[in-house]
Amino acid sequence: MQIHALVVEGVRNLAPLTLVPRARFNVFVGDNGQGKTNLLEAIFAVAALRSFRTSKLADLIAFGASEARLGARVAKDDLTRTYEVEISPGSRRIRLDGKTARPLAKYFGGFNVVVFTPEDLGLARGAPADRRRFLDRGVFNLRPGYLAVTSDYEKVLKQRNSVLRQVGQGAMSHARAEEMLSIYDNQLAQLGVQLAQDRVRFLEVIRPALLDAFGEITRTGLAAGARYVSQTAGGSVADLEARLREGRARDLATGSTHVGPHRDDLVLELEGREAGSFASQGQLRAIMLAWKSAELAVLGRAHGDAPILLLDDVSSELDPSRNEYLFQHLANQAGQCFITTTAAGHVLLDQNRADFFIHSGRIESGRIDA
Ligand SMILES: Nc1ncnc2c1ncn2[C@@H]1O[C@H](COP(=O)(O)OP(=O)(O)OP(=O)(O)O)[C@@H](O)[C@H]1O
Ligand SMILES: [Mg+2]
Repeated sequence: MQIHALVVEGVRNLAPLTLVPRARFNVFVGDNGQGKTNLLEAIFAVAALRSFRTSKLADLIAFGASEARLGARVAKDDLTRTYEVEISPGSRRIRLDGKTARPLAKYFGGFNVVVFTPEDLGLARGAPADRRRFLDRGVFNLRPGYLAVTSDYEKVLKQRNSVLRQVGQGAMSHARAEEMLSIYDNQLAQLGVQLAQDRVRFLEVIRPALLDAFGEITRTGLAAGARYVSQTAGGSVADLEARLREGRARDLATGSTHVGPHRDDLVLELEGREAGSFASQGQLRAIMLAWKSAELAVLGRAHGDAPILLLDDVSSELDPSRNEYLFQHLANQAGQCFITTTAAGHVLLDQNRADFFIHSGRIESGRIDA
């Protein structure tokens, strides 16, 4: 998969630009605050229709502008398609080859990006909800249909919680609530088992690739892993339904649902121990990089075409050897990469590389190697 041309207008501090990136490594060099992350965010947004920094896509609109426009010509296999999104406050217009994309899964299917940002580093030590979202994005990239399962689950969960709260407020009779909860418990159990199964299967696929990538990036002999932690995964629909039924009294007392995959967690591991508690800062960075690399490998195998990799400021915190191994690892993989850095010399790639300099949101070409 390759971006042949990128058009950005009205996005953050970026001057309107048309970029023709190279097939392999595109390195963006600039000082702090010049627009490097903004550029990766723009690429990510046109592919994923969301930002990796903010939950509001409209935050991308440049101060003082009324809308942001993003477009990309992307080649996959022997087909080149145009992906476009126009963002204005409160709305977005999405086009695939100039037409509305229906269903939206069509849009996502042909344009996959995997992004690594320094914020990912906080994940292992952060909130379980963030790790679930992180895991779900991986599953979704591999199988766009997974989006429907998660959003249906969220919907039913909300409805169930709303019934629980209405009883608590005296707005619904117990008899009526019991009747509705029986229905929601069944729906939630069906969707919940599916959801947990999809996550567990994804982890089974990613785990060996994670181990390999971590080995190549660190060359220490230490093992990175990932584990799904759940009170309910592996059980049947009937099991989860029974657990929901058993927990109903407590759920009614608190107004929330205590069992199900919305309470599960992903644990990243180093040598079988929880990385968030035991790994060093640099090791955590290597685990996260290895995870992204594993996603690339898994997606590439599944779709027969390597996705596009966005790496924001990777080198800080890796020691010189790990930094060198990381770039050797990347050079051995396929796919187009967009890499940002504050110093060109941190990016240890000498082939198939184009450097661009970015200053006050303006991009200029620098050196281009074979
Ligand atoms: N909506 C917006 N409109 C205009 N400018 C914006 C907007 N949002 C952020 N900016 C500006 O973009 C700049 C930051 O750009 P960016 O985060 O891409 O920097 P960077 O090159 O990645 O820097 P660093 O090396 O520190 O990560 C800041 O000057 C910020 O004020
Ligand atoms: Mg940045």
